[in-house]
Amino acid sequence: MGIESTAHTFGVGIVDSSGNVLANELDMYRPTSGGIHPREAAQHHAAVAHTVLGRALKRSGVGPEMIDAVAFSYGPGLGPCLRTGATLARALALRLGRPLISVNHGVAHIEIGKLFTGFVDPVVLYVAGGNTLVTTLHEGRYRVLGETLDIAAGNCLDVFGIKAGLGPMPAPEARARKGKTFYSMPYNVKGMDVSFSGLLTAAERLIAEGRPVEDVALSVTEVVYAMLTEVLERAVALTQKKEVLLVGGLARSGRLQEMVREMVRVHGAEFRPIPDEYLGDNGAMIAWTGLKMFQHGQVTPVEESVVRPKLRIDDTEVRWL
Ligand code: FE2
Repeated sequence: MGIESTAHTFGVGIVDSSGNVLANELDMYRPTSGGIHPREAAQHHAAVAHTVLGRALKRSGVGPEMIDAVAFSYGPGLGPCLRTGATLARALALRLGRPLISVNHGVAHIEIGKLFTGFVDPVVLYVAGGNTLVTTLHEGRYRVLGETLDIAAGNCLDVFGIKAGLGPMPAPEARARKGKTFYSMPYNVKGMDVSFSGLLTAAERLIAEGRPVEDVALSVTEVVYAMLTEVLERAVALTQKKEVLLVGGLARSGRLQEMVREMVRVHGAEFRPIPDEYLGDNGAMIAWTGLKMFQHGQVTPVEESVVRPKLRIDDTEVRWL
């Protein structure tokens, strides 16, 4: 069983050792205005935990006694949200008398992507509301080849969409399809890293000037995806790896997938999308990664099961392939 609670999603997933997802239930906190309020999100998670857990057990058809281990996201994420999930995970592990496993949320996004694509050693672009990085496995860890220097790509597009009156993704991308004029925008790729805050400011300025929102949406989405595809392309060229994986909520973008597919073709590599349900935050990815860790002896004593809001993807040793 895996418990996810790093940000707006509270999820419980149950998988078996053959890689079948038996249950993947979730409930999302939706702020009435603005971004995620960490304490409100944590209160949401605590309020829905019982129901989501019950739904997952019912859907899976397994009784609590058949759960072999309890995994949870211990970071990166929002402190209050992480602590809510961790508390439930510890209580369940103690109650069931089963091992507890602390899972790195970023690693879990990649592992569930590998499960659904059959990829073994991909170059990965992990793009979401809170994370943007290019990574690949090297000597037992997912190494960061490139990342955002300021805000995440998903955050840039969500904030733009909200300020432009469209709402968060996928609304900006839907509106971009009606755009006709492309405005020149700040394009900030620095080595393997990217920066989106200047782009967001420029987009907000164009909206304030009264430019057509569909044209600004077109310009900002195209530039964000082009920057991401460029750094991903460098990673593919550098590593010469032939599998390319997109994970995280923003990987649902049809336009980003299109750009990546085109780039990957040029390099004789392969890109395979994974189902939308497993791109955003979910409990199944925590369960699946927890299972791999469990099989390799990476369990966490309850008294050491702290949360790590600033955990990095390369903090976790990957003992499996
Ligand atoms: Fe995530």
